[in-house]
Amino acid sequence: MAAKPVFLIWGGEGWVAGHLKTLLESQGKEVHTTTVRMQNREAVIAEIEKVKPTHILNAAGSTGRPNVDWCEDHKEDTIRNNVIGTLNLADVAFLKGIHLTVFATGCIYAYNESHPIGGPGFLETDKANFDGSFYSETKAHVEEVMKHYPNVLVLRLRMPVSDDLHSRNFVTKIAKYERVVDIPNSNTILHDLLPAAVLLAEHKDTGIYNFTNPGAISHNEVLALFKEYVRPDFTWKNFTLEEQAKVIKAGRSNCKLDTTKLETKLKEYGYTVPEIHEAYKGCFQRMAAAGVK
Ligand SMILES: NC(=O)c1ccc[n+]([C@@H]2O[C@H](COP(=O)([O-])OP(=O)(O)OC[C@H]3O[C@@H](n4cnc5c(N)ncnc54)[C@H](OP(=O)(O)O)[C@@H]3O)[C@@H](O)[C@H]2O)c1
Repeated sequence: MAAKPVFLIWGGEGWVAGHLKTLLESQGKEVHTTTVRMQNREAVIAEIEKVKPTHILNAAGSTGRPNVDWCEDHKEDTIRNNVIGTLNLADVAFLKGIHLTVFATGCIYAYNESHPIGGPGFLETDKANFDGSFYSETKAHVEEVMKHYPNVLVLRLRMPVSDDLHSRNFVTKIAKYERVVDIPNSNTILHDLLPAAVLLAEHKDTGIYNFTNPGAISHNEVLALFKEYVRPDFTWKNFTLEEQAKVIKAGRSNCKLDTTKLETKLKEYGYTVPEIHEAYKGCFQRMAAAGVK
């Protein structure tokens, strides 16, 4: 019989890490968290030898505060965390024979001629074509290297959404902006995708997966559903990509990811991820039921 899984979450104080911990605890799983810096090889080895995980979940990394513009001005810190640290943890996990799930990003693509709005989504095998932000650049480079570790599962999240109005939630962000662009994008509803991450990790799947709900949804569609289900008096204003470029330092990725690989794999485990419009309805209905306004 396989040993009972023991999960160790890296980046233990982070937003996604907190959701993962809550989920695993609700499933009755053994879960530990750590805030040990990933680039500190001796400390990483010591932590792994102490906890003896069967599965490591890496939800650590520089995402920037208040947003990815921070990475433009802190390039060395961003490299240390998103490249050196991330690779160090993958390497130690490999040497110790431990499965590692990396919570990565799909913000490494931008719509182009062969992937226009409304057209086919980017595949896991497509080369990154968005380097408009230093954050995305580090994430794309590290993925290219990390994919060669046979113990690593890379999950590409995009614009993650929780069932509350936490400041990290994509909906909270766009609802607070003075003006928003209106472009279809792939989004990750955590309620739907985090259980899938646990399934893939437990089955020790490896390789790269686009990790979003199927389909793409525009900012206006999201905000219209938010208004319908959560905040009836909500209003917002749009602006163009050109106008947006004047108020941000780093470029922002806009794209649709193809989720066929993910859907096919999850079908093997009897798990389905809802299409993004349906997923948002479910998310906002849960918010409303919980009294979130
Ligand atoms: N939120 C998003 O919009 C989004 C979108 C797509 C993908 N992702 C990816 O999902 C992952 C988790 O995101 P999140 O939103 O939960 O971010 P978060 O709330 O900022 O959490 C990340 C955590 O990682 C820690 N950390 C940073 N560098 C580290 C290092 N070198 N060693 C150990 N811990 C380190 C941070 O701790 P300190 O604060 O102490 O540095 C922080 O607690 C990230 O890799 C991110 O790129 C996020």
